[in-house]
Amino acid sequence: MIVVSGIQPTGNLHLGNYLGAIRNWVKMQDEMDGDSRCMFFLADLHAISMPHDPAELKSNTLEMAAALVACGLDPARSVLFNQAQVPAHAELQWLLMGTARMGWLNRMTQWKDKAGKNREGQSVALFGYPVLQAADVLLYQATHVPVGEDQKQHLELARDIAQKFNNDFASEESPVFTLPEPFIPPKAARIMSLRDGSKKMSKSDVSEMSRIELADDADTMAQKVKKAKTDPEPLPSEIEGLAERPEALNLVTIYAALAETTPEAVLADHGGQGFGQFKPALAEKMVEVLGPIRDRFVELKEDREELDAILARGAAKAREFSTPTLDAAYKALGLVRG
Ligand code: TYM
Repeated sequence: MIVVSGIQPTGNLHLGNYLGAIRNWVKMQDEMDGDSRCMFFLADLHAISMPHDPAELKSNTLEMAAALVACGLDPARSVLFNQAQVPAHAELQWLLMGTARMGWLNRMTQWKDKAGKNREGQSVALFGYPVLQAADVLLYQATHVPVGEDQKQHLELARDIAQKFNNDFASEESPVFTLPEPFIPPKAARIMSLRDGSKKMSKSDVSEMSRIELADDADTMAQKVKKAKTDPEPLPSEIEGLAERPEALNLVTIYAALAETTPEAVLADHGGQGFGQFKPALAEKMVEVLGPIRDRFVELKEDREELDAILARGAAKAREFSTPTLDAAYKALGLVRG
């Protein structure tokens, strides 16, 4: 099993990233056997597809590395690296540009959402972004790609690109790329904004009150939970009772994910409670789970030397693991490299 996944260092790690992806990365790392490999990276090359501030990107990248280690990713067991330190990602993206079709990219919902009505004004990188994401996983022959629900379509595209490339440029017996599987954890795959139950919790939301960040202290977390949008009804005892109540469902989902249980079990315990009672319980659970992670994060983010060393070691390994596939892709395309 080869596990590969990435996260954009565009801001602080938030609860959606943690419950939807990172916690699952840590589990996969902890359950890894001798034949498996886990590779996790900071997708800084992806981050330049949107307008950005270079100094901010740099500090966010280092902070995100500290956050991942604080969450339990162990650089001694997983390969933890930064995308820009492994040029093979950008190289393979270009090689795959000949295979990806405009129509495939045009159908990506993230592209449609982010571009909105102003497609002409977007960077080419925003449009080509899923091709880089395909390169990220194909480069390492990934078999499993743990992601949240919102990235599933990008992973399906990576499979389409791999399949077409193999068909067009390789023999059936020796394909250049392995077809990766998106791996979506069954529990808490989607955490919504605290201000709007129909929007996912996101780094790019202008309202900080919409998300819980790893860097938030206990009081800030409690405050954000207290102010989270809800309705006046008490919690039902059955999950069907939350069908038309997206904000209430979100808070129950978050509680369940933090407590590593199901929303049904949360309702069995808390059904009948109003939010005046449930919200403090949720805040307490949140602080219990995230507090220790935050403390490690705050300490490590100041240790620049250690972070640089972790990323340099990870990048050296990633370069080594990526070389055979990159070479095979160049060769399959008939590109002369001496
Ligand atoms: P990014 O940085 O937006 O998010 C990182 C991971 O967190 C998940 N996630 C969520 N899960 C549940 N609820 C939410 N509200 C929520 N918000 C984010 C995402 O699904 C993701 O798994 N394009 C990717 C980064 C990337 C990548 C890759 C991922 C680049 N190359 C290769 C996998 C493989 C992105 O922007 O994720």
